Amino acid sequence: MRQGMIALMSLFRQEFAIKGMDFIHAGEASIRVKNILKEIGAHQDLIRRVAIAAYEAEINTVIYGQGGVMILELDEDGVLIRVEDKGPGIPDLKLAMQEGWSTATPEIQAMGFGAGMGLPNIKKNSDKFVIDSEIGQGTRLKIFFNSGWKGRKT
Ligand SMILES: Nc1ncnc2c1ncn2[C@@H]1O[C@H](COP(=O)(O)OP(=O)(O)O)[C@@H](O)[C@H]1O
Ligand SMILES: [Mg+2]
Repeated sequence: MRQGMIALMSLFRQEFAIKGMDFIHAGEASIRVKNILKEIGAHQDLIRRVAIAAYEAEINTVIYGQGGVMILELDEDGVLIRVEDKGPGIPDLKLAMQEGWSTATPEIQAMGFGAGMGLPNIKKNSDKFVIDSEIGQGTRLKIFFNSGWKGRKT
C-alpha cells in the first residue's frame, strides 16, 4: 500500500528550511531538490513534476504558512516531498483545492502569486497527494512521485 510505503521510506533524506514572507530566498528549497534529482540522474519528466509541485508547496509555505520545512526522501520506489508549517492552517481544504480559489492579498497578487492553481497543480503533477491542516496548528503536505527507476536497467 502507498500509505504504508510512505511511512517506511528514507534511503535518502534531506531537510530544507523555508522562511516565511522571505521573497528573496523563496523557491531555493525546490531548486535544491531539483538539483539533487538531476545529480542522481532522475528522468527529466520526473524532475519536472517534482520541481513544479515542490515549488508550489514552498511558495504557499512562504506566503501563508509563516515558513516551515521541506523534507526530501528518496527510496527505490520514488520521491517523497513533505512540506510542513506551523502556520494558521486551512479552514476549508475542499475550497482550497479548487482551481482559482485563493486568499492572496492584493500585495501578494502584485508579486505575481495568487492564481489559486498551486494546490491543484501539486495534485496534478504527483502520483499521491495528502494534505492535512488544522486551524491554529499548521499544514502538512505529503507529495509522492513514482520514480519508475525500479524498472530501469542501468
Ligand atoms: N501552507 C498553507 N497555510 C495556510 N493556508 C494555505 C497554505 N497553502 C495554501 N493555503 C490556502 O489555500 C489557498 C489556495 O492555495 P493555492 O492553490 O496554492 O493558490 P494560491 O497560492 O495562488 O492562493 C491559498 O490562497 C491559501 O488560502
Ligand atoms: Mg499557491
